[in-house]
Amino acid sequence: MNYNKKSIEDIEVAGKRVLCRCDFNVPTKNGVITSDKRIVAAMPTIRYLVEHNARVILCSHMGKPKGEYKPELSLKIVADRISELLGKEVVMASDVAGADAQSKAAALRDGDVMLLENTRFEKGETKNDPELSKALASMADIFVNDAFGTAHRAHASTAGVADYLPAVSGYLVQKEVSIMGKALANPERPFVAILGGAKVSDKLNVINNLLDKVDTLIIGGGMAFTFEAAKGSCVGSSLLDETKIDYCKEMMAKAQAKGVKLLLPVDAVVASSFPNPIDAEIEVETVAADAIPQGKMGLDIGEKSQALFAEAVKNAKTVVWNGPMGVFENPVLNKGTIAVAQALADSDAVTIVGGGDSAAACEQLGFADKITHISTGGGASLEFLEGLELPGIACLQDK
Ligand code: 3PG
Repeated sequence: MNYNKKSIEDIEVAGKRVLCRCDFNVPTKNGVITSDKRIVAAMPTIRYLVEHNARVILCSHMGKPKGEYKPELSLKIVADRISELLGKEVVMASDVAGADAQSKAAALRDGDVMLLENTRFEKGETKNDPELSKALASMADIFVNDAFGTAHRAHASTAGVADYLPAVSGYLVQKEVSIMGKALANPERPFVAILGGAKVSDKLNVINNLLDKVDTLIIGGGMAFTFEAAKGSCVGSSLLDETKIDYCKEMMAKAQAKGVKLLLPVDAVVASSFPNPIDAEIEVETVAADAIPQGKMGLDIGEKSQALFAEAVKNAKTVVWNGPMGVFENPVLNKGTIAVAQALADSDAVTIVGGGDSAAACEQLGFADKITHISTGGGASLEFLEGLELPGIACLQDK
């Protein structure tokens, strides 16, 4: 895929109505935003557009309202936060591309900012309906995509609208694509990737693609047990995807053929059952990862694995990490994930954390400023690591 796309700096925006797709899909609790990271990440593009006298029409989805108006998923709270960060009014439309949005967009003056309602209030959004794309495009002269977190979705507001307007990237998309693209295409070596998370099936193509690129691939989290079982080890009652055992064997053979070091945990923190609730007190012990007793399930990597993985990170020049090593939400079972986050924070390498839980872990632990890049994309960064074409980026004009 060609990542060399035109950006907001390559197009004249002064006096133009610019439809700017952002990923304002932020977590909320009782109507309050609990992390404004994605809003903050969109601010450089918004500020550029305002400072260069564009008439800015922001849009995003939030949650999965499935084509219906849901008051709890209104973007009004996002408009308020942008307004605070920007220090100026952000006009809120009461619909996505209907009469209110159209008339407010037409009334914008240079440097004004408005926000459309949640794009997924429209049924056509996730269907990439050309009628919705046209209605969105009719309000603007230029389309800017700055929604990296949603770039893997071919929706009306992320990709479809680019059929009707000149389309360029914002600073966030540019940054995500250039840092992750360089790491994958031309990494400083040794290049180490660390994958975690529960299921092998979620990361099949990521493992396959990364084996063509890395020097060392570390596998932790629940998915490591299917690899362990593929080696013939006893994994007790740990999470196991029987249908993927042959796949794991294939991947181990591929690693060997390519001279890629494949590191699996050597020890595991086990318990009799999964904690319920997830942060409940739990009795654990540490055992060898290839000899988990019957009736016990592995829920985190042990200290020896933590040291092994940290050593690999210490010698790396590029590190990409996606997915927790254990049940991070539990204070007893979060040690492996913390150890990996710490290893990245201590490293001088280019360190990239690919969204989702591992990004949240780095932030909660206060390591965010010690990591080269924490992606704002969960699913999007995973698809990027798979080497897939992201529709929200493919649709933008080439340089
Ligand atoms: C995300 O949170 O990963 C993006 O905003 C995409 O959201 P979606 O998975 O609901 O499409």
